[in-house]
Amino acid sequence: MGRGARVEGEEHGRAGGAGRAVAAVAIGIAAAVPLYASALTEENLIYLEAWRAVYQAYYDGTYNGQNFLRLKERTLKEYKMQSREETYAAIESNLSTLGDPYTKLLDPSKFAFVTGSKKGGQSSGVGIEIAYPKDRSVEGLLVVNTQPGSPAERSGILPNQLLVQIDSSPTAGMSIYEAAGLLKGEKGTVVSVLVRDEKTSGVRTVELTRDALRRTNVGSKFCEAGEAGGEPSGYIRLSSFSDQTDLEVRKAVRDLKSQGSAEYFLDLRNNGGGSFDAGVNVARIFIDQGTIVNIADAKGIKDYYDAKNAAEDSSTPLTVLVNGGTASAAEVLSGALQDNKRAVLVGERTFGKGLIQTLVRLSDGSGVAVSVAKYQTPNEVDINKKGITPDVVVAAEGGGGLPGVGEGGGCEIVATVKERRGGS
Ligand SMILES: *[C@@H]1O[C@H](CO)[C@@H](O)[C@H](O)[C@H]1NC(C)=O
Repeated sequence: MGRGARVEGEEHGRAGGAGRAVAAVAIGIAAAVPLYASALTEENLIYLEAWRAVYQAYYDGTYNGQNFLRLKERTLKEYKMQSREETYAAIESNLSTLGDPYTKLLDPSKFAFVTGSKKGGQSSGVGIEIAYPKDRSVEGLLVVNTQPGSPAERSGILPNQLLVQIDSSPTAGMSIYEAAGLLKGEKGTVVSVLVRDEKTSGVRTVELTRDALRRTNVGSKFCEAGEAGGEPSGYIRLSSFSDQTDLEVRKAVRDLKSQGSAEYFLDLRNNGGGSFDAGVNVARIFIDQGTIVNIADAKGIKDYYDAKNAAEDSSTPLTVLVNGGTASAAEVLSGALQDNKRAVLVGERTFGKGLIQTLVRLSDGSGVAVSVAKYQTPNEVDINKKGITPDVVVAAEGGGGLPGVGEGGGCEIVATVKERRGGS
């Protein structure tokens, strides 16, 4: 259990294939610059490309309650962009007015990493599973797990430490997919990470040589009656979502069922998301009919995803474990299971990332991630910045809470959850 999961290489909440609404707004970026083009410098044009990508596709038509056209006019008039750095600084500062940490500039190297990872050909990296820290004021990204035998594990990086910097990029405010993109790379290349241990306050720089990784983010364990504290049960740990995830979960459910599981426990703690489609597809493994998730873009175009009568098991009792690190696609799944009354959610309130991004390439090789749609749970609840409240609230790991992810194997977690949630 607790095999390090490959957030590496995943897109966090990508919009690829995320339905008609998103596809409709993601086109038409390269429109010509009219009339005053001659007065614009090359730098201005890059700024405009970025501005336009956001203007056309951003999910909030009020642009956070400001005149987004005026912002652009003013910046072009009052601010000389004399180098690419200054242009990027203008884009960054102007996009920050949206108050959306997921709509942002990616410089060319970041953009290449992130889009490269989308293709999914590579499976080499350092073996760190990352998530957002539960406490939002903490700067950096949380190490949830390291994959056994991976470069990260061999170098002594431990769960619950913080990843503060990757090469020269601080991780504060960085999305996990962006971080995953930076960690990923060709086998044999080196990435340097700055790691902080909250307990000891120790900080150290670790040089990791990337290596081939086994790609799976699903772990499962069958727990006999005795170890499961009651009826035999199946434990499934899902650390992130990538293209193959639903197939792996389907197989795990099938196996656990044939072994005689009377109920399932799906552990989504510290699952920071990944492929939006995979989140939807995992919901379809447990739900036969009904809405999985609703999405809406800036133009009010709404779309929804529904179950497809393709459930592997739509009736065996299901308990889902969530916490403050459960985000994005993992919240899509949790919301679908809760609103369809398919599962009981146990744990802490989830993170609250209800926005879906798409990536737009700019002509100099950089790009912008733009939040193009927001989603709502089947009951039309907007969870952005709010999260999902579990049916049974159980405080954080330790101090009388649940055993942590990967701690003592799945069965101890199952037995404790049965005890805490009451009943059976
Ligand atoms: C837009 O960017 C420019 C350049 O960094 C900056 O001077 C200006 O204040 C920004 N506008 C807003 C509203 O943040």
